[in-house]
Amino acid sequence: MRHCGRVSVTARVDALEFKAPIKVGDVVRLTARLNAAFTSSMEIAVRVEVEHAVTGARSLCADARATFVNLGDDGKPCRVPALLAETDDDRRVAAQAAERRERRRAAERSN
Ligand SMILES: CC(C)(COP(=O)(O)OP(=O)(O)OC[C@H]1O[C@@H](n2cnc3c(N)ncnc32)[C@H](O)[C@@H]1OP(=O)(O)O)[C@@H](O)C(=O)NCCC(=O)NCCS
Repeated sequence: MRHCGRVSVTARVDALEFKAPIKVGDVVRLTARLNAAFTSSMEIAVRVEVEHAVTGARSLCADARATFVNLGDDGKPCRVPALLAETDDDRRVAAQAAERRERRRAAERSN
């Protein structure tokens, strides 16, 4: 929603993996990265880390990838602004997201 400046809805959550437990009292830190912007959809990576309240040391507890769809005033999917890749890492991450989207679309077409 920050990227689009509009309401976006979750269409899909993939690759949700719980790697370590979160205990009562733990400080939880969630970060999200916009991996790629397509036509009206975006792939977003989410990381959930537990942060030691005293030392600040962090460890990964869960991660996932989500697809959000940007909605227009009519509630229908509308175009997302392009994502400007600034680094080689940005370009690699966006290319991997595009490959995943292509694979999903090909699988949907063959169903
Ligand atoms: C997500 C939603 C708006 C898509 O509407 P739609 O009319 O099916 O959209 P379209 O088929 O025109 O596809 C629009 C875009 O969404 C993407 N999309 C739609 N369903 C998707 C899915 N299940 N997974 C991944 N992407 C999806 C399409 O690939 C397309 O992307 P693109 O524009 O970048 O090429 C609609 O399915 C919806 O409202 N779902 C419920 C969302 C919701 O309630 N979320 C809250 C969950 S807590």
